[in-house]
Amino acid sequence: MKAIILAGGSGTRLYPVTMTVNKHFLPIYNKPMIYYPLSLVMLLGIKNVLFIVNPTDLETFKRLFRDGSHLGMNIKYRIQEKPNGLAEGLILAEDFIGNDNICYLLGDNIFYGHDLVKIMAEAKKEIEEKGGAYVFGYYVKDPERFGVVEFDEKGNVKSIEEKPKKPKSNYAVVGMYFYDNEAIEIAKRVKPSDRGELEITSVNEEYLRRGKLKVKLLGRGFAWFDAGTHDSFLEAGEFVATIEKKTGLMIGCIEEIAYRNGWIDREQLLELAKPLAKTDYGKYLLELANSE
Ligand code: DAU
Repeated sequence: MKAIILAGGSGTRLYPVTMTVNKHFLPIYNKPMIYYPLSLVMLLGIKNVLFIVNPTDLETFKRLFRDGSHLGMNIKYRIQEKPNGLAEGLILAEDFIGNDNICYLLGDNIFYGHDLVKIMAEAKKEIEEKGGAYVFGYYVKDPERFGVVEFDEKGNVKSIEEKPKKPKSNYAVVGMYFYDNEAIEIAKRVKPSDRGELEITSVNEEYLRRGKLKVKLLGRGFAWFDAGTHDSFLEAGEFVATIEKKTGLMIGCIEEIAYRNGWIDREQLLELAKPLAKTDYGKYLLELANSE
């Protein structure tokens, strides 16, 4: 399985902040927003990652993550000329994906919860063994902001709609999708929505039509933030700060995960910690390197 992280888009809901800086570089507490989805991919053990980026941000992304080898990874980039919608990322990633299955993450989504990695690993396994699409639902108060999934009495998925004016349920589809290789061909046939975007929800709808969409609900033990608005951005930062201070453990620390995965050795970890030495982030890495 390969991973794609969507990090383009216009970020207009965070204006004026994002008029000059791409939202994915903004800090969620002590690290750039984009570290969080990348850390999930790493926790799943996926080394091959493609970032979909805006033309103006390519160089900055490359400065941040280079070719990924310092993390023991293989990171590539693909430019999306315009924010034509989430499904376009699948089309742009075609040659990168090859014949593989796909883990598809939104760059502004932040997840935290007990067993999160286990649940993601289950989705990965299911796609690898059975194919289809596997997505997650999360109860929210404001479903009209999201893709919304509706269930029948038996709990089967009945419909899935993008930002409906009258949502049929309170279950939002979160920005973490697992697909078999068919997703690319499906994405190619998607027509722009009323707001002019190639919607990822249209891809999911097609899987539903084929009887191949699985939706798993994330329960109360999970926190999920779409950090794309001023309020949710702030909430996500406060949440991460609270958890990290309480537990003394970091969320989304990519160097730590690379080290614990055995993708980099102690010397490499120390090297990565050097430029961060003045921060608690750097001290955390140093402690990690000296603890084992
Ligand atoms: O956060 C979950 C929601 O994400 C889902 O419930 C919706 O079904 C899905 O459409 C999406 O809705 P948003 O309106 O929140 O998507 P947004 O425009 O914020 O883009 C999500 C991420 O994808 C963000 O990190 C920017 C990036 N992006 C967005 C577009 C439109 C791209 O890389 N390219 C794009 O063309």
